[in-house]
Amino acid sequence: MNKKAALFDLDGVLVDTAKFHFLAWKQLADRLGIHFSEQDNEKLKGVSREESLDILLGLGERKYSEAEKLAMAEEKNKSYVKYIQKMDASEILPGVLQTLTSLKSRKIKIGLGSASKNTAIILKNTGLSQYFDVIIDGNIVCNAKPDPEVFIKGAEGLAISSQDCVVFEDSEAGCQAARSAGMYAVGVGKKENLPSANEIIANFKEFKVEALF
Ligand code: BG6
Ligand code: MG
Repeated sequence: MNKKAALFDLDGVLVDTAKFHFLAWKQLADRLGIHFSEQDNEKLKGVSREESLDILLGLGERKYSEAEKLAMAEEKNKSYVKYIQKMDASEILPGVLQTLTSLKSRKIKIGLGSASKNTAIILKNTGLSQYFDVIIDGNIVCNAKPDPEVFIKGAEGLAISSQDCVVFEDSEAGCQAARSAGMYAVGVGKKENLPSANEIIANFKEFKVEALF
């Protein structure tokens, strides 16, 4: 296919942070007396912090003021940050480093497109920062996935046209964002969860760089 750039989501694609998001949300849910399962956590993948909180609160009965919600989002983030502060390179998902290295050796541009506002600390602690030519995250974008903004900004930052970009995503919202941007979407995970992906890989150990780039 001779694609020229790769745009990676972070959480659930390069590193397994979903478990830390779950633990931090669960702590908040327990305090509020809301039942929150790992199944419920699936609905939060790829979704912004604020929308995630709305989904979680929707599982309970009570309504909360904007000020209360702001404080809850901060509370969740504080406990999430405690987990990611302890992360290191061992948290990088299987096959990821080989893929990034192989892309670099082929002179393929590499970008990050994440909804998270915590990308800097995760990239630093895992040593992944060095691989990226551009980083677009929740601190930069105004419109959350499935809006294509994050990937369009990524392609602009790399000066590569959308049709030459491949996006790697573990969330359906992210695959939709990639497709709306006119990009090729590789879903990382299970086909039934990612109907908008152009193709699916279970993980990067089975991904062949030469097939797309
Ligand atoms: C996404 C995650 O990458 O980032 C979501 O899949 C998360 O689960 C979102 O809510 C925002 O992350 P953060 O770190 O800014 O709270
Ligand atoms: Mg993700």
